[in-house]
Amino acid sequence: MTLRLFIPADAGALAVGAEEVASALGAAAARQKVAVDVVRTGSRGLYWLEPMVEVQTSAGRVAYGPVTASDAEGLLRAILADGAHALRQGLTEEIPWLKRQTRLTFARCGVVDPRSREDYRAHDGCKGLERALALGPAATVEEVVQSGLRGRCGAGFPTGIKWRTVAQTPPQQKYIVCNADEGDSGTFADRMIMEGDPFVLIEGMAVAGIAVGATKGYVYIRSEYPHAAATMEAAIAAARRGGLLGNRVANSSFAFDMEVRVGAGAYVCGEETSLLDSLEGKRGLVRAKPPLPAHKGLFGRPTVINNVLSFASVPIIMDKGGAFYRDFGMGKSRGTMPIQLAGNIKYGGLFEAAFGITLGELVDDVGGGTRSGRPVRAVQVGGPLGAYFPRALFDTPFDYEAFAARDGLIGHGGIVVFDDTVDMAKQARFAMEFCAIESCGKCTPCRVGSTRGIEVIDHIIRGENRAANTALLEDLCHTLKFGSLCALGGFTPYPVMSALTYFPEDFGAPPRLLAAE
Ligand SMILES: Cc1cc2nc3c(=O)[nH]c(=O)nc-3n(C[C@H](O)[C@H](O)[C@H](O)COP(=O)(O)O)c2cc1C
Ligand code: SF4
Repeated sequence: MTLRLFIPADAGALAVGAEEVASALGAAAARQKVAVDVVRTGSRGLYWLEPMVEVQTSAGRVAYGPVTASDAEGLLRAILADGAHALRQGLTEEIPWLKRQTRLTFARCGVVDPRSREDYRAHDGCKGLERALALGPAATVEEVVQSGLRGRCGAGFPTGIKWRTVAQTPPQQKYIVCNADEGDSGTFADRMIMEGDPFVLIEGMAVAGIAVGATKGYVYIRSEYPHAAATMEAAIAAARRGGLLGNRVANSSFAFDMEVRVGAGAYVCGEETSLLDSLEGKRGLVRAKPPLPAHKGLFGRPTVINNVLSFASVPIIMDKGGAFYRDFGMGKSRGTMPIQLAGNIKYGGLFEAAFGITLGELVDDVGGGTRSGRPVRAVQVGGPLGAYFPRALFDTPFDYEAFAARDGLIGHGGIVVFDDTVDMAKQARFAMEFCAIESCGKCTPCRVGSTRGIEVIDHIIRGENRAANTALLEDLCHTLKFGSLCALGGFTPYPVMSALTYFPEDFGAPPRLLAAE
């Protein structure tokens, strides 16, 4: 009998020893004379259990975690006996944290071998592409419009409308660009998909290419993601060999091919126009809009640029239909959002849920509160440009409009939790400093304003002319918000002003009384 084990090779799992666990289990199997077939997968996203080892049983996969190399010998013996072990978590699919989720985009992540095209197919892969080929370009665009899918990286622009704009430009060389720069604090969903289910991204980009008439795609991956880049490269090569990419995509008359490009480590290169500059080999500098990338993007050609998660959501939309996807969610936020729970949180990881789940459910019920065991004081949602929400706003549903109404943003779905030891004045200063460091320098409010902002916050922290400097900071934030060319300068006021508004006591002012506190 051969024992089938699944061990993640996801960067998050590797960081906590998955490689050592894999070799220790291999060595233990040799000593115990057991034949093992080890499949290296992505992560299921239950990061507090990593490295999580799964065993194939007749009832399904059984999970053990967090496993260390020194557990290997005993764990293997236990698996071969009756399976009982202190690290046993039960059937993976029955783990409540996973069972509560609605995994549409992440359905295969952590399940399949990310380098195997056959495994992808065996788990419903390529069905979306086949349907897109059967429907043809125009109907494919309309299906994505109907799904209600909105860009998964911040602005929430309707994906189908973007595709329609590019599709309607005259035939010429067009491009599909995937934004895998994933620079937001507390986010890792793009990385997880690229490392755990790269074919879903390839399929989504190929569908986009067919839909808008683009024959070439690029995945722009941040340099900090070497494992993701390597997995994507391997999957692209396998897709080419298998006829999923190339001159005749899946034996059709459509051509589409793609390649990986690695960034050089600038947050602003995640902004779509500076990303295009960087892809063209220039220094990443934000371009004024118009022209929109949809009209004049990469090398001056019509370009669809979308986030990894936006493309990765397309195969299931095409497979099950726009109406199926649209059925999930609330208001104008349709489908599911892969939410990333990070920071000082007990159960951190990837939680995919239909829009509408509240911030409180996510932090308290799903995340289990803080890892330190102290009370949650603030959460930053949406990356370094997102607002800090206090407990009083925990009833906010995960929805683009609901967050915007409270001067916040869901961004790329990252939630970073802080306990009551956090100093919010320092966090506000950090947000300004981040803006100053990462500013591309093109426009004055951001280039100069962020540096002045740090000085003003320092004055407030030191208690110098507090009232006048607080008014000055508010004025400066107003200028940044309305005078900046892109959202780096434009959104930095969110973390700064939310810290000042909800946590004034950290700035030396009287505390604010909020209803739910
Ligand atoms: C400073 C800055 C950084 C950004 N970083 C990213 C990023 O890392 N990944 C991303 O997909 N979008 C990022 N964006 C948003 C992109 O400009 C763009 O809206 C997105 O790629 C469009 O894809 P979507 O419609 O699928 O969300 C950033 C925007 C700004 C202003
Ligand atoms: S807001 Fe900042 S990052 Fe954006 S264009 Fe202006 S200077 Fe560049």
